[in-house]
Amino acid sequence: MASSFQQDFKVGILGGGQLGRMLIQSGIDFNIPFAVLDPDPSAPCSALAEFYCGKLTDFNTVMEFGSKCDIITIEIENVNTEALKALAREGKKVFPQPEVIEMIQDKRRQKTFYRDNGIPTAEFYLTENDEAVKQYAHFLPFVNKLGREGYDGRGVQLMRDEKDLEKAYNAPGLVEKMIDFEKEISVIVARSERGEIKTFPVVEMVFHPVQNLVEYLFSPADVSVEKAGQASAIARKVIGDLNMTGLLAVEMFVTREGQILVNEIAPRPHNSGHQTIEANMTSQYEQHLRSILNLPLGDTDILMPSAMVNLLGEPGFSGPAKYQGFEEVLREPGVFVHLYGKQQTKPFRKMGHVTILAKDMATLKTKATLVKETLKVVS
Ligand SMILES: Nc1ncnc2c1ncn2[C@@H]1O[C@H](COP(=O)(O)OP(=O)(O)OP(=O)(O)O)[C@@H](O)[C@H]1O
Ligand SMILES: [Mg+2]
Repeated sequence: MASSFQQDFKVGILGGGQLGRMLIQSGIDFNIPFAVLDPDPSAPCSALAEFYCGKLTDFNTVMEFGSKCDIITIEIENVNTEALKALAREGKKVFPQPEVIEMIQDKRRQKTFYRDNGIPTAEFYLTENDEAVKQYAHFLPFVNKLGREGYDGRGVQLMRDEKDLEKAYNAPGLVEKMIDFEKEISVIVARSERGEIKTFPVVEMVFHPVQNLVEYLFSPADVSVEKAGQASAIARKVIGDLNMTGLLAVEMFVTREGQILVNEIAPRPHNSGHQTIEANMTSQYEQHLRSILNLPLGDTDILMPSAMVNLLGEPGFSGPAKYQGFEEVLREPGVFVHLYGKQQTKPFRKMGHVTILAKDMATLKTKATLVKETLKVVS
């Protein structure tokens, strides 16, 4: 018998930022009804769906929101997982599963999970406070990470020598061997409720040396077929071991010795998958929806090589956002601008991104640089 698809359900998204916004944008093609919860009344999703303003970490707020939805998902990990567990017990579909979100919220539990499951990751020790970090002078150079609530490079600090130990975090965290990596790569993998798994081709991330935010991203990554295969296999293993339904981004290091180590994971659409909107057969956003709605997963093949540039608030400007150089970049063939609808800019705030398509790497690099130099968020 042929399948049937009816839109008699509502998908609730915890978080109303740019990832939610692009998820809704993609969901429109399947005519999916959405509700969104976010503490900011002017969040990027606020005008695009049934919108509720409230705290994502508050039990009652999440319960009340969830009761209005049939399928609940996230676009940010910092949410009340007790409420999500209670909603799942009531029969709501919650993807990714609350237990997975809860584990990922804590980098200490993430690292322990990799170790317990034989997933390659940098050597580490758990630390309870700053004094404990200082006991690891013999382990230098290392990276001190906060267990919880770090993001976009906050909650991560590199410690090269003994005098850096003074700034150790005084909260539960970990110390992790500093990896002299050749590249940072990411694989986005999806797993549907029925257990189908698909990975996107490996991408390469180039971080801003100071802000610790992705500055450029290239797809596909410049790695050997063998390395790409290993990275995809690791991503499949991680999502399989988690028994997770939904989309998972797996950030990895390729070491100078050619080893692949998992750095961290994010159970949702990810900054390293924005380019899939234009550059791949299926976007990460549609793939996320397919996976949580238990639909067949889409083909992830690359249509054309691409680069992605985050559009960050220009330092020195705070206030209502203006996009300088907008028309100039729109004149360029193969340049796709995405603005997130944030009214206020501030230094380094993620205000949008630009995807660039071109047949060869050299053109991608030239155009990515041109976009970075031309398009600026000012006020
Ligand atoms: N063990 C390590 N060795 C060397 N560099 C590291 C190590 N761990 C993290 N880094 C660097 O710091 C960056 C941020 O670390 P991580 O991804 O753990 O933090 P985050 O703040 O959660 O990240 P995100 O920016 O993805 O939100 C990494 O992308 C990498 O460049
Ligand atoms: Mg990271």
